Amino acid sequence: MVKETKRWWKEAVVYQIYPRSFADSNGDGIGDLNGITAHLDYLQLLGVDAIWLSPVYQSPNDDNGYDISDYRDIMDEFGTMEDFDRMLAEAHKRGIRIVMDLVVNHTSDEHAWFVESRKSRENPYRDFYFWRDSKDGREPNNWGSCFGGSAWEYDEATDQYYLHLFSKKQPDLNWDNPAVRDAVFDMMNWWCDKGIDGFRMDVISMISKEPELPDDPAPKGLYGDFNPFVNCGPRVHEYIQEMNRRVLSGRDLLTVGETGNISIEEARRFANADESELGMIFQFEHVELTPGRAGKWTTEKPTLAALRKSLNKWQTGLEGCAWNSLYLDNHDQPRAVSRFGNDSPEFRVRSAKMLATMLHMMKGTPYIYQGEELGMTNAGFVSLEDYRDIESLGTYRDLVGAGVYTPEEMMACLQEISRDNARTPMQWNDSENAGFTTGTPWIRVNDNYREINAAAQVDDPDSVFSYYRALIRLRHEDPAVVYGTFVPMLEEDPAVYAYRRVLEGDHTLAVYCNFTSEEVPCGWDCGEVLLSNYAGHKADLLQPYEAIVLRVG
Ligand code: GLC
Ligand code: CA
Repeated sequence: MVKETKRWWKEAVVYQIYPRSFADSNGDGIGDLNGITAHLDYLQLLGVDAIWLSPVYQSPNDDNGYDISDYRDIMDEFGTMEDFDRMLAEAHKRGIRIVMDLVVNHTSDEHAWFVESRKSRENPYRDFYFWRDSKDGREPNNWGSCFGGSAWEYDEATDQYYLHLFSKKQPDLNWDNPAVRDAVFDMMNWWCDKGIDGFRMDVISMISKEPELPDDPAPKGLYGDFNPFVNCGPRVHEYIQEMNRRVLSGRDLLTVGETGNISIEEARRFANADESELGMIFQFEHVELTPGRAGKWTTEKPTLAALRKSLNKWQTGLEGCAWNSLYLDNHDQPRAVSRFGNDSPEFRVRSAKMLATMLHMMKGTPYIYQGEELGMTNAGFVSLEDYRDIESLGTYRDLVGAGVYTPEEMMACLQEISRDNARTPMQWNDSENAGFTTGTPWIRVNDNYREINAAAQVDDPDSVFSYYRALIRLRHEDPAVVYGTFVPMLEEDPAVYAYRRVLEGDHTLAVYCNFTSEEVPCGWDCGEVLLSNYAGHKADLLQPYEAIVLRVG
């Protein structure tokens, strides 16, 4: 058996902040850095070890900061570099590390590199991006962008198209150009020298493109799929290893790559235990179990069988050779309790705790997305005007426009899947706008903030918040939670997700989670109950959404 190397980031629990929606300190309706600093005590109470900060760099906000116009400056709406330095120092004072979002597959079209690049075909920055001639009077290839429309934008000034896998304000960087890599690694070193503690790397598996940029030969939808030609492309591991040599090695950083659509084999390379690339990756399989008619747009809920099969595959597939990250929620996904649990008033609290148990007792580094620790639910906006997300609005336009979905069908999909479900303001208390802002919030507050908010939960021992505290404490105190081998159990059970964590030669934990609103038969092990969302247990059965963690030997 492989002995895991001990690392702080394997023992940590990470809290993701989406700054725009976390806390507004100056009443302009937009969350900001001083708002985060003001709530660090809350995070310390929760017990998390690190914050992953969604992008706070200078940005015109076409995609809420994932379109960066200056990597070494702070977005005006979020504050100043002094505010950042203060936040960093205050976080460190509380033992909380700061992991930055690194968005280097693309920049904003307002970044100085792109402003130069588009000036002329001879500009020294021309090859920082992908410029191509039109083909047969059309775009250079048939790829569609993630946010609707073609992945190419025509630029009259030089009579060529540039590639943007995301919005047309997010041109893709050309990593095959060594000058791009120099510039990115310089910038990363600059942030490291400032004292930050790691990077979450946005769509990092897409930085190396098939040089020919070929057409998707058999497009299924309105446009061709770029994934086969950009995801885990020919030189991606070479580039990540170079980044490792030139930036990461010798520094004690948490690094996590966002890698959608990848295989176990690829993941083992990105997150290899030899630490030649990254610490861990975010895979997407378990949040993509219900493909719709067009991409992710569906109202179908994932089944327990599918979820278990996927999560167990990643747990056992990386065991001993690479490190997992654990998440159900983030700023791109609907709320976990609405999607995987039961957000009805009767079962919301129980099922949120059950899901947390299932996730946090697995092997890997758990991520909590802001509000998940309160059991916040999908917003489910019923009017298109309430949506802000560029992806939701762009795909609505495309799919309804082409008749793939009726407006009613697409609205139902948005209510279930839209990224805005997770982007509504953090619910701090029951005052107007949930205590998020004294002004007008940039996006509507979820109507349920009077029931679901932090103030009502921090001192309540039965709250979802208190349960998360207990889960985090258990991870910090029991090495089996961090380093124990994951062993699946009851793999055919229709209602129960169960597994063990075995710390060889030491002790074993058993975890049982009822995914249904019914009492179900389950012959769970005897042992010391370390944590549960019920005060009393019944032999040989699990109560609705009951979760139980036992020390069994
Ligand atoms: C990642 C981010 C997402 C963003 C996209 C483009 O998937 O998580 O929010 O829109 O990359 O940067
Ligand atoms: Ca503000």
